[in-house]
Amino acid sequence: MTVTIVGAQLGDEGKGGIVDLFGDAADVVARYQGGDNAGHTVVHQGEEYKLSLVPSGAIRGKVGVLGNGCVVNPRTLFDELDTLRDRGLDPDVRVAERAHVILPYHRVLDGIEEEVKSETDDEVGTTGRGIGPTYEDKAGRRGVRVGDLLDSDVLRDRLEYVVPQKRALVEDVYGLDVADLDDPDAFDVDALFEEFREFGRRFEDDDMTVVAGEFLTAASEEGQNVMLEGAQGTLIDIDHGNYPYVTSSNPTAGGAAVGTGLSPGLVGGGEIIGIVKGYLTRVGSGPLPTELGGVVGDTPGYEEQGEGDDEELATYIREEGGEYGTVTGRPRRVGWLDMPMLRHATRVSGFTGLAINHLDVLAGLDEVKVGHTYTLDGEEMHTIPSTTEQWQACEATFRTFDGWDDGDWAAIAEEGYEALPENAQAYVEYIEDELDTPAYAIGVGPNRDEAIVRQRPF
Ligand code: GDP
Ligand code: IMO
Ligand code: MG
Repeated sequence: MTVTIVGAQLGDEGKGGIVDLFGDAADVVARYQGGDNAGHTVVHQGEEYKLSLVPSGAIRGKVGVLGNGCVVNPRTLFDELDTLRDRGLDPDVRVAERAHVILPYHRVLDGIEEEVKSETDDEVGTTGRGIGPTYEDKAGRRGVRVGDLLDSDVLRDRLEYVVPQKRALVEDVYGLDVADLDDPDAFDVDALFEEFREFGRRFEDDDMTVVAGEFLTAASEEGQNVMLEGAQGTLIDIDHGNYPYVTSSNPTAGGAAVGTGLSPGLVGGGEIIGIVKGYLTRVGSGPLPTELGGVVGDTPGYEEQGEGDDEELATYIREEGGEYGTVTGRPRRVGWLDMPMLRHATRVSGFTGLAINHLDVLAGLDEVKVGHTYTLDGEEMHTIPSTTEQWQACEATFRTFDGWDDGDWAAIAEEGYEALPENAQAYVEYIEDELDTPAYAIGVGPNRDEAIVRQRPF
Protein backbone atom coordinates (compact mmCIF):
# COMPACT_ATOMS: atom_id res chain seq x y z
CA MET A 1 0.00 0.00 0.00
CA THR A 2 0.98 3.65 -0.18
CA VAL A 3 1.05 6.36 2.46
CA THR A 4 1.30 9.89 1.10
CA ILE A 5 2.65 12.69 3.26
CA VAL A 6 1.38 16.17 2.33
CA GLY A 7 2.17 19.54 3.89
CA ALA A 8 -1.18 21.08 4.85
CA GLN A 9 0.09 24.65 5.12
CA LEU A 10 3.06 26.53 3.67
CA GLY A 11 5.89 24.04 4.05
CA ASP A 12 8.09 23.23 7.05
CA GLU A 13 5.23 21.53 8.93
CA GLY A 14 7.58 18.77 10.09
CA LYS A 15 7.06 16.39 7.16
CA GLY A 16 10.57 14.93 7.43
CA GLY A 17 9.98 13.91 11.04
CA ILE A 18 6.67 12.21 10.22
CA VAL A 19 8.14 10.41 7.19
CA ASP A 20 10.75 9.14 9.63
CA LEU A 21 8.16 8.15 12.23
CA PHE A 22 5.77 6.29 9.93
CA GLY A 23 8.40 5.41 7.34
CA ASP A 24 9.77 2.82 9.70
CA ALA A 25 7.30 0.37 8.18
CA ALA A 26 8.00 1.49 4.61
CA ASP A 27 10.27 -0.33 2.17
CA VAL A 28 10.56 2.53 -0.31
CA VAL A 29 10.26 6.29 0.21
CA ALA A 30 9.70 8.36 -2.93
CA ARG A 31 9.52 12.08 -3.49
CA TYR A 32 7.06 13.16 -6.17
CA GLN A 33 7.70 16.88 -6.75
CA GLY A 34 10.01 19.76 -5.99
CA GLY A 35 13.75 19.69 -5.79
CA ASP A 36 16.43 21.01 -3.48
CA ASN A 37 14.14 23.85 -2.38
CA ALA A 38 12.95 21.42 0.32
CA GLY A 39 14.59 21.23 3.72
CA HIS A 40 13.45 18.19 5.68
CA THR A 41 14.81 17.55 9.13
CA VAL A 42 15.20 14.08 10.59
CA VAL A 43 16.69 13.46 14.02
CA HIS A 44 18.15 9.96 14.20
CA GLN A 45 20.08 8.62 17.18
CA GLY A 46 20.63 12.15 18.47
CA GLU A 47 22.05 13.31 15.11
CA GLU A 48 20.22 15.92 13.05
CA TYR A 49 20.05 15.45 9.29
CA LYS A 50 18.79 18.22 7.00
CA LEU A 51 17.90 16.84 3.62
CA SER A 52 17.03 18.91 0.61
CA LEU A 53 16.83 16.24 -2.08
CA VAL A 54 17.49 12.77 -0.72
CA PRO A 55 14.17 11.29 0.52
CA SER A 56 14.02 11.27 4.33
CA GLY A 57 13.64 7.48 4.48
CA ALA A 58 17.22 7.06 3.21
CA ILE A 59 18.46 7.86 6.72
CA ARG A 60 17.00 4.56 7.89
CA GLY A 61 18.21 2.47 5.00
CA LYS A 62 14.99 2.57 2.96
CA VAL A 63 15.25 2.74 -0.80
CA GLY A 64 14.78 6.39 -1.79
CA VAL A 65 13.32 7.40 -5.15
CA LEU A 66 13.20 10.81 -6.78
CA GLY A 67 10.10 10.55 -8.95
CA ASN A 68 9.52 11.93 -12.44
CA GLY A 69 7.72 14.94 -10.95
CA CYS A 70 10.91 16.09 -9.22
CA VAL A 71 13.52 18.49 -10.55
CA VAL A 72 16.97 17.20 -9.76
CA ASN A 73 20.16 19.19 -9.35
CA PRO A 74 22.88 16.52 -9.64
CA ARG A 75 25.40 18.82 -7.92
CA THR A 76 23.20 18.94 -4.82
CA LEU A 77 22.26 15.28 -5.02
CA PHE A 78 25.82 13.97 -5.15
CA ASP A 79 26.97 16.46 -2.47
CA GLU A 80 24.19 15.30 -0.20
CA LEU A 81 24.91 11.63 -0.85
CA ASP A 82 28.64 12.16 -0.22
CA THR A 83 27.90 14.02 3.03
CA LEU A 84 25.61 11.23 4.25
CA ARG A 85 28.30 8.64 3.40
CA ASP A 86 30.88 10.71 5.31
CA ARG A 87 28.51 10.51 8.28
CA GLY A 88 28.52 6.74 8.11
CA LEU A 89 25.24 6.10 6.28
CA ASP A 90 24.75 4.07 3.13
CA PRO A 91 21.90 5.78 1.24
CA ASP A 92 20.32 3.91 -1.68
CA VAL A 93 18.74 6.52 -3.97
CA ARG A 94 17.22 5.98 -7.43
CA VAL A 95 16.33 8.79 -9.78
CA ALA A 96 13.56 8.78 -12.37
CA GLU A 97 14.81 8.94 -15.94
CA ARG A 98 11.85 11.22 -16.66
CA ALA A 99 12.74 13.71 -13.90
CA HIS A 100 14.00 17.07 -15.16
CA VAL A 101 17.49 18.34 -14.46
CA ILE A 102 18.20 21.69 -12.82
CA LEU A 103 21.06 23.21 -14.78
CA PRO A 104 23.24 26.08 -13.57
CA TYR A 105 21.46 28.59 -15.83
CA HIS A 106 18.18 27.83 -14.06
CA ARG A 107 19.62 29.05 -10.78
CA VAL A 108 21.06 32.17 -12.39
CA LEU A 109 17.71 32.96 -14.03
CA ASP A 110 15.84 32.38 -10.77
CA GLY A 111 18.08 35.03 -9.18
CA ILE A 112 17.73 37.51 -12.03
CA GLU A 113 13.93 37.27 -12.17
CA GLU A 114 13.61 37.74 -8.40
CA GLU A 115 15.91 40.74 -8.60
CA VAL A 116 13.84 42.31 -11.36
CA LYS A 117 10.57 41.66 -9.50
CA SER A 118 12.02 43.13 -6.31
CA GLU A 119 12.21 46.53 -8.01
CA THR A 120 8.42 46.64 -7.68
CA ASP A 121 8.26 44.59 -4.45
CA ASP A 122 6.81 41.67 -6.38
CA GLU A 123 9.44 39.04 -5.63
CA VAL A 124 8.21 35.63 -4.47
CA GLY A 125 11.11 35.10 -2.12
CA THR A 126 12.17 31.87 -3.81
CA THR A 127 14.87 29.64 -2.43
CA GLY A 128 17.01 30.58 -5.45
CA ARG A 129 17.50 26.95 -6.41
CA GLY A 130 16.27 27.34 -10.00
CA ILE A 131 13.03 25.46 -9.35
CA GLY A 132 10.67 27.75 -11.29
CA PRO A 133 12.89 28.11 -14.38
CA THR A 134 13.37 24.31 -14.56
CA TYR A 135 9.62 23.60 -14.44
CA GLU A 136 9.13 26.35 -17.03
CA ASP A 137 11.45 24.50 -19.39
CA LYS A 138 9.68 21.22 -18.63
CA ALA A 139 6.34 22.75 -19.65
CA GLY A 140 8.02 24.55 -22.57
CA ARG A 141 9.36 21.22 -23.92
CA ARG A 142 12.94 22.43 -23.82
CA GLY A 143 14.04 20.74 -20.61
CA VAL A 144 16.86 18.26 -20.08
CA ARG A 145 15.81 15.06 -18.36
CA VAL A 146 17.88 12.70 -16.25
CA GLY A 147 17.66 10.10 -19.02
CA ASP A 148 19.22 12.61 -21.43
CA LEU A 149 22.38 12.73 -19.30
CA LEU A 150 22.99 9.09 -20.18
CA ASP A 151 23.43 9.73 -23.91
CA SER A 152 26.14 12.09 -25.16
CA ASP A 153 24.47 12.90 -28.47
CA VAL A 154 21.09 13.61 -26.96
CA LEU A 155 22.55 15.76 -24.18
CA ARG A 156 24.59 17.83 -26.60
CA ASP A 157 21.60 18.34 -28.90
CA ARG A 158 19.39 19.46 -26.04
CA LEU A 159 21.99 21.91 -24.73
CA GLU A 160 22.73 23.30 -28.17
CA TYR A 161 19.05 24.05 -28.62
CA VAL A 162 18.33 25.58 -25.25
CA VAL A 163 21.48 27.38 -24.09
CA PRO A 164 21.46 30.10 -26.79
CA GLN A 165 17.86 30.87 -25.80
CA LYS A 166 18.90 31.30 -22.16
CA ARG A 167 21.80 33.49 -23.18
CA ALA A 168 19.46 35.64 -25.25
CA LEU A 169 17.08 35.90 -22.31
CA VAL A 170 19.84 37.25 -20.10
CA GLU A 171 21.26 39.61 -22.68
CA ASP A 172 18.31 40.74 -24.78
CA VAL A 173 15.48 40.64 -22.25
CA TYR A 174 17.25 41.45 -19.00
CA GLY A 175 20.00 43.54 -20.61
CA LEU A 176 22.84 41.88 -18.72
CA ASP A 177 26.16 40.62 -20.01
CA VAL A 178 26.67 36.88 -19.45
CA ALA A 179 30.42 37.47 -19.06
CA ASP A 180 29.72 39.65 -16.01
CA LEU A 181 27.68 37.01 -14.18
CA ASP A 182 29.11 35.12 -11.20
CA ASP A 183 28.91 31.87 -13.17
CA PRO A 184 29.41 32.62 -16.90
CA ASP A 185 30.01 28.87 -17.49
CA ALA A 186 26.32 28.41 -16.73
CA PHE A 187 25.68 29.55 -20.32
CA ASP A 188 28.51 27.66 -22.02
CA VAL A 189 27.42 24.55 -23.92
CA ASP A 190 30.81 22.82 -23.71
CA ALA A 191 31.26 23.41 -19.98
CA LEU A 192 27.71 22.25 -19.26
CA PHE A 193 28.08 19.21 -21.48
CA GLU A 194 31.27 18.14 -19.79
CA GLU A 195 29.97 18.49 -16.26
CA PHE A 196 26.53 17.02 -16.80
CA ARG A 197 27.64 14.13 -19.02
CA GLU A 198 29.95 13.19 -16.16
CA PHE A 199 26.93 13.21 -13.80
CA GLY A 200 25.23 10.92 -16.30
CA ARG A 201 28.15 8.50 -16.13
CA ARG A 202 27.96 8.54 -12.34
CA PHE A 203 24.24 7.80 -12.46
CA GLU A 204 25.03 4.86 -14.73
CA ASP A 205 28.03 3.57 -12.79
CA ASP A 206 26.04 3.65 -9.55
CA ASP A 207 23.01 2.10 -11.29
CA MET A 208 20.85 4.92 -10.00
CA THR A 209 18.31 5.60 -12.76
CA VAL A 210 14.90 3.95 -12.93
CA VAL A 211 11.58 4.27 -14.71
CA ALA A 212 9.87 5.43 -11.53
CA GLY A 213 6.35 4.29 -12.38
CA GLU A 214 7.49 0.78 -13.24
CA PHE A 215 9.84 0.53 -10.28
CA LEU A 216 7.28 1.72 -7.74
CA THR A 217 4.33 -0.18 -9.19
CA ALA A 218 6.37 -3.39 -9.13
CA ALA A 219 7.36 -2.72 -5.51
CA SER A 220 3.73 -2.14 -4.60
CA GLU A 221 2.57 -5.29 -6.44
CA GLU A 222 5.15 -7.31 -4.54
CA GLY A 223 3.47 -6.16 -1.35
CA GLN A 224 6.08 -3.60 -0.36
CA ASN A 225 5.05 -0.50 1.54
CA VAL A 226 5.63 2.68 -0.44
CA MET A 227 5.72 6.06 1.24
CA LEU A 228 5.29 9.16 -0.89
CA GLU A 229 7.05 12.13 0.67
CA GLY A 230 5.64 15.49 -0.31
CA ALA A 231 7.79 18.57 -0.12
CA GLN A 232 6.56 22.17 0.31
CA GLY A 233 2.86 22.51 1.20
CA THR A 234 -0.69 22.98 -0.06
CA LEU A 235 -0.71 26.77 0.00
CA ILE A 236 2.38 26.95 -2.17
CA ASP A 237 1.02 24.41 -4.69
CA ILE A 238 1.07 25.96 -8.16
CA ASP A 239 -2.63 25.11 -8.74
CA HIS A 240 -4.18 25.07 -5.28
CA GLY A 241 -1.91 27.54 -3.54
CA ASN A 242 -1.58 31.26 -3.30
CA TYR A 243 -0.54 32.07 -6.89
CA PRO A 244 1.86 33.71 -7.74
CA TYR A 245 3.50 33.27 -4.32
CA VAL A 246 3.91 29.56 -4.90
CA THR A 247 6.45 26.97 -5.87
CA SER A 248 6.19 25.54 -9.38
CA SER A 249 4.96 22.01 -8.62
CA ASN A 250 2.02 20.15 -7.03
CA PRO A 251 2.72 19.16 -3.42
CA THR A 252 -0.95 18.19 -2.98
CA ALA A 253 -1.97 14.52 -3.10
CA GLY A 254 -2.85 14.46 -6.82
CA GLY A 255 0.79 15.27 -7.52
CA ALA A 256 1.81 12.02 -5.85
CA ALA A 257 0.29 9.99 -8.68
CA VAL A 258 1.45 12.16 -11.57
CA GLY A 259 4.87 12.69 -10.03
CA THR A 260 5.66 9.01 -9.50
CA GLY A 261 3.77 7.15 -12.22
CA LEU A 262 1.76 5.21 -9.65
CA SER A 263 -1.89 5.15 -10.65
CA PRO A 264 -4.30 7.58 -8.96
CA GLY A 265 -6.34 4.59 -7.78
CA LEU A 266 -3.35 3.12 -6.02
CA VAL A 267 -2.39 6.39 -4.35
CA GLY A 268 -6.01 7.21 -3.49
CA GLY A 269 -6.56 3.73 -2.11
CA GLY A 270 -3.82 4.29 0.44
CA GLU A 271 -3.60 6.73 3.31
CA ILE A 272 -3.04 10.45 2.80
CA ILE A 273 -1.65 12.18 5.86
CA GLY A 274 -1.86 15.95 6.18
CA ILE A 275 0.98 17.40 8.21
CA VAL A 276 -0.12 20.38 10.28
CA LYS A 277 2.10 22.66 12.31
CA GLY A 278 0.18 23.70 15.46
CA TYR A 279 0.67 27.34 14.41
CA LEU A 280 1.75 28.79 11.08
CA THR A 281 5.00 29.73 9.41
CA ARG A 282 5.75 31.09 5.98
CA VAL A 283 9.04 31.73 4.20
CA GLY A 284 8.71 34.32 1.47
CA SER A 285 6.03 36.73 0.40
CA GLY A 286 2.23 36.55 0.13
CA PRO A 287 -0.77 37.07 2.44
CA LEU A 288 -1.05 35.49 5.88
CA PRO A 289 -4.27 36.61 7.60
CA THR A 290 -3.33 35.18 11.01
CA GLU A 291 0.22 36.59 10.98
CA LEU A 292 1.74 37.82 14.22
CA GLY A 293 4.27 40.63 13.85
CA GLY A 294 6.02 40.37 10.49
CA VAL A 295 9.34 39.97 8.71
CA VAL A 296 10.68 42.90 6.72
CA GLY A 297 11.14 41.99 3.07
CA ASP A 298 8.64 39.12 3.23
CA THR A 299 5.48 40.43 4.94
CA PRO A 300 3.64 42.61 2.39
CA GLY A 301 3.64 46.27 3.42
CA TYR A 302 5.74 45.66 6.52
CA GLU A 303 8.46 48.29 6.51
CA GLU A 304 10.15 48.20 9.88
CA GLN A 305 10.88 45.42 12.36
CA GLY A 306 9.05 45.98 15.63
CA GLU A 307 5.95 47.65 14.26
CA GLY A 308 3.51 44.71 14.50
CA ASP A 309 1.07 44.46 17.43
CA ASP A 310 2.10 40.97 18.32
CA GLU A 311 5.78 41.24 17.52
CA GLU A 312 6.88 39.92 20.91
CA LEU A 313 4.70 36.85 20.65
CA ALA A 314 5.93 36.19 17.10
CA THR A 315 9.54 36.45 18.24
CA TYR A 316 8.84 34.11 21.16
CA ILE A 317 7.31 31.44 18.92
CA ARG A 318 10.05 31.89 16.29
CA GLU A 319 12.77 31.36 18.87
CA GLU A 320 11.02 28.48 20.70
CA GLY A 321 10.31 26.71 17.43
CA GLY A 322 13.67 27.50 15.81
CA GLU A 323 11.73 28.99 12.91
CA TYR A 324 14.54 29.84 10.52
CA GLY A 325 14.64 28.43 6.99
CA THR A 326 16.38 25.06 6.69
CA VAL A 327 17.61 25.92 3.19
CA THR A 328 18.13 29.68 3.35
CA GLY A 329 18.39 30.45 7.10
CA ARG A 330 15.80 33.24 6.67
CA PRO A 331 13.55 34.03 9.68
CA ARG A 332 10.15 32.48 9.04
CA ARG A 333 7.00 34.58 9.33
CA VAL A 334 4.84 33.34 12.21
CA GLY A 335 1.07 33.28 12.72
CA TRP A 336 -1.73 31.48 14.51
CA LEU A 337 -3.25 28.35 13.05
CA ASP A 338 -5.52 29.17 10.10
CA MET A 339 -8.58 26.91 9.78
CA PRO A 340 -9.86 28.20 6.40
CA MET A 341 -6.45 27.20 5.04
CA LEU A 342 -6.68 23.74 6.61
CA ARG A 343 -10.25 23.16 5.37
CA HIS A 344 -9.01 23.96 1.86
CA ALA A 345 -6.01 21.62 2.22
CA THR A 346 -8.18 18.79 3.54
CA ARG A 347 -10.58 19.07 0.61
CA VAL A 348 -7.86 19.27 -2.05
CA SER A 349 -5.91 16.25 -0.83
CA GLY A 350 -8.59 14.20 0.94
CA PHE A 351 -6.63 13.60 4.11
CA THR A 352 -7.40 10.31 5.79
CA GLY A 353 -5.34 11.26 8.84
CA LEU A 354 -3.42 14.17 10.31
CA ALA A 355 -0.18 14.68 12.13
CA ILE A 356 -0.31 17.79 14.32
CA ASN A 357 3.18 18.98 15.22
CA HIS A 358 4.89 21.53 17.45
CA LEU A 359 2.37 21.55 20.32
CA ASP A 360 5.37 21.78 22.67
CA VAL A 361 6.37 25.10 21.09
CA LEU A 362 3.03 26.64 22.11
CA ALA A 363 3.35 25.35 25.70
CA GLY A 364 3.72 28.07 28.31
CA LEU A 365 1.51 30.60 26.53
CA ASP A 366 -1.52 31.84 28.54
CA GLU A 367 -3.74 31.45 25.55
CA VAL A 368 -3.53 30.06 22.06
CA LYS A 369 -5.59 31.51 19.23
CA VAL A 370 -6.88 30.05 16.02
CA GLY A 371 -8.19 31.85 12.95
CA HIS A 372 -11.54 30.02 12.81
CA THR A 373 -13.10 31.84 9.85
CA TYR A 374 -12.43 34.93 7.74
CA THR A 375 -14.50 37.96 6.95
CA LEU A 376 -14.31 39.24 3.38
CA ASP A 377 -16.50 42.17 2.28
CA GLY A 378 -18.74 41.60 5.29
CA GLU A 379 -19.21 37.91 4.53
CA GLU A 380 -18.07 35.01 6.66
CA MET A 381 -15.76 32.57 4.84
CA HIS A 382 -14.87 29.05 5.96
CA THR A 383 -12.25 28.48 3.32
CA ILE A 384 -9.76 30.58 1.37
CA PRO A 385 -10.66 32.66 -1.68
CA SER A 386 -8.94 31.91 -4.99
CA THR A 387 -7.07 35.15 -5.57
CA THR A 388 -4.18 36.59 -3.67
CA GLU A 389 -5.83 40.01 -3.60
CA GLN A 390 -8.98 38.63 -1.97
CA TRP A 391 -6.96 36.56 0.46
CA GLN A 392 -4.94 39.64 1.41
CA ALA A 393 -8.24 41.40 2.18
CA CYS A 394 -9.52 38.61 4.48
CA GLU A 395 -9.68 39.32 8.18
CA ALA A 396 -9.43 36.38 10.51
CA THR A 397 -12.03 35.81 13.23
CA PHE A 398 -10.26 34.17 16.13
CA ARG A 399 -11.17 31.52 18.69
CA THR A 400 -9.18 31.46 21.88
CA PHE A 401 -8.04 28.35 23.71
CA ASP A 402 -6.55 28.17 27.22
CA GLY A 403 -2.83 27.47 27.08
CA TRP A 404 -1.00 24.43 28.43
CA ASP A 405 2.17 23.96 30.45
CA ASP A 406 5.52 22.72 29.31
CA GLY A 407 6.23 19.12 30.23
CA ASP A 408 8.53 16.16 29.86
CA TRP A 409 7.48 15.54 26.30
CA ALA A 410 9.28 12.25 25.75
CA ALA A 411 7.57 10.85 28.86
CA ILE A 412 4.20 12.22 27.72
CA ALA A 413 4.71 10.70 24.28
CA GLU A 414 5.52 7.35 25.80
CA GLU A 415 2.49 7.40 28.08
CA GLY A 416 0.19 8.35 25.24
CA TYR A 417 -2.57 10.77 24.35
CA GLU A 418 -4.18 10.80 27.81
CA ALA A 419 -0.95 12.23 29.24
CA LEU A 420 -1.15 15.27 26.95
CA PRO A 421 -2.31 18.34 28.95
CA GLU A 422 -6.10 18.61 28.79
CA ASN A 423 -6.05 22.02 27.11
CA ALA A 424 -3.78 20.68 24.38
CA GLN A 425 -6.19 17.77 23.92
CA ALA A 426 -9.03 20.27 23.49
CA TYR A 427 -6.96 22.00 20.80
CA VAL A 428 -6.29 18.73 18.96
CA GLU A 429 -9.93 17.71 19.13
CA TYR A 430 -11.08 21.06 17.78
CA ILE A 431 -8.83 20.57 14.72
CA GLU A 432 -10.00 16.98 14.24
CA ASP A 433 -13.66 18.02 14.47
CA GLU A 434 -13.34 20.97 12.12
CA LEU A 435 -11.52 18.87 9.50
CA ASP A 436 -13.46 15.70 10.22
CA THR A 437 -10.16 13.83 10.19
CA PRO A 438 -8.42 11.95 13.01
CA ALA A 439 -4.98 12.93 14.25
CA TYR A 440 -2.78 9.85 13.84
CA ALA A 441 0.21 11.54 15.49
CA ILE A 442 0.85 14.53 17.70
CA GLY A 443 4.34 16.01 17.62
CA VAL A 444 5.63 17.37 20.91
CA GLY A 445 9.30 17.76 20.03
CA PRO A 446 11.78 17.28 17.20
CA ASN A 447 12.94 13.83 18.29
CA ARG A 448 11.36 10.64 17.14
CA ASP A 449 10.35 9.67 20.67
CA GLU A 450 8.60 13.02 21.08
CA ALA A 451 5.53 12.09 19.05
CA ILE A 452 2.32 10.62 20.43
CA VAL A 453 1.26 7.91 18.00
CA ARG A 454 -2.45 7.08 18.01
CA GLN A 455 -2.65 5.20 14.74
CA ARG A 456 -0.08 3.91 12.28
CA PRO A 457 -0.98 4.28 8.60
CA PHE A 458 0.96 1.15 7.46
P1 GDP B 1 9.62 19.91 6.76
O1 GDP B 1 10.18 20.76 5.69
O2 GDP B 1 8.13 19.85 6.73
O3 GDP B 1 10.23 18.52 6.81
O4 GDP B 1 9.99 20.60 8.13
P2 GDP B 1 11.43 21.27 8.52
O5 GDP B 1 12.38 20.18 8.81
O6 GDP B 1 11.81 22.30 7.53
O7 GDP B 1 11.02 22.08 9.80
C1 GDP B 1 10.48 21.47 10.93
C2 GDP B 1 11.40 21.73 12.13
O8 GDP B 1 10.67 21.47 13.31
C3 GDP B 1 12.60 20.82 12.20
O9 GDP B 1 13.65 21.48 12.84
C4 GDP B 1 12.09 19.65 13.03
O10 GDP B 1 13.13 18.95 13.69
C5 GDP B 1 11.22 20.36 14.00
N1 GDP B 1 10.05 19.62 14.49
C6 GDP B 1 9.28 18.72 13.83
N2 GDP B 1 8.24 18.35 14.62
C7 GDP B 1 8.36 19.05 15.77
C8 GDP B 1 7.57 19.13 16.98
O11 GDP B 1 6.54 18.49 17.15
N3 GDP B 1 8.06 19.98 17.94
C9 GDP B 1 9.19 20.72 17.79
N4 GDP B 1 9.56 21.51 18.78
N5 GDP B 1 9.93 20.67 16.68
C10 GDP B 1 9.52 19.85 15.69
P1 IMO C 1 9.80 22.14 2.64
O1 IMO C 1 9.74 20.90 1.81
C1 IMO C 1 8.73 26.37 2.95
C2 IMO C 1 8.73 28.69 -0.79
C3 IMO C 1 9.79 29.75 -0.97
C4 IMO C 1 9.04 30.74 -1.84
C5 IMO C 1 8.21 29.83 -2.75
C6 IMO C 1 8.82 29.57 -4.11
O2 IMO C 1 11.01 22.23 3.49
O3 IMO C 1 8.53 22.33 3.39
P2 IMO C 1 10.86 28.08 -4.93
O4 IMO C 1 12.32 28.16 -4.59
O5 IMO C 1 10.24 26.76 -4.61
O6 IMO C 1 10.57 28.52 -6.32
O7 IMO C 1 10.18 29.18 -3.97
O8 IMO C 1 8.07 28.60 -2.04
N1 IMO C 1 9.26 27.34 -0.47
C7 IMO C 1 9.17 26.77 0.73
N2 IMO C 1 8.70 27.24 1.91
N3 IMO C 1 9.18 25.12 2.87
C8 IMO C 1 9.64 24.62 1.70
O9 IMO C 1 9.98 23.31 1.54
C9 IMO C 1 9.68 25.47 0.57
N4 IMO C 1 10.08 25.30 -0.71
C10 IMO C 1 9.81 26.46 -1.33
O10 IMO C 1 10.17 30.31 0.27
O11 IMO C 1 8.15 31.49 -1.06
MG1 MG D 1 11.44 22.41 5.47
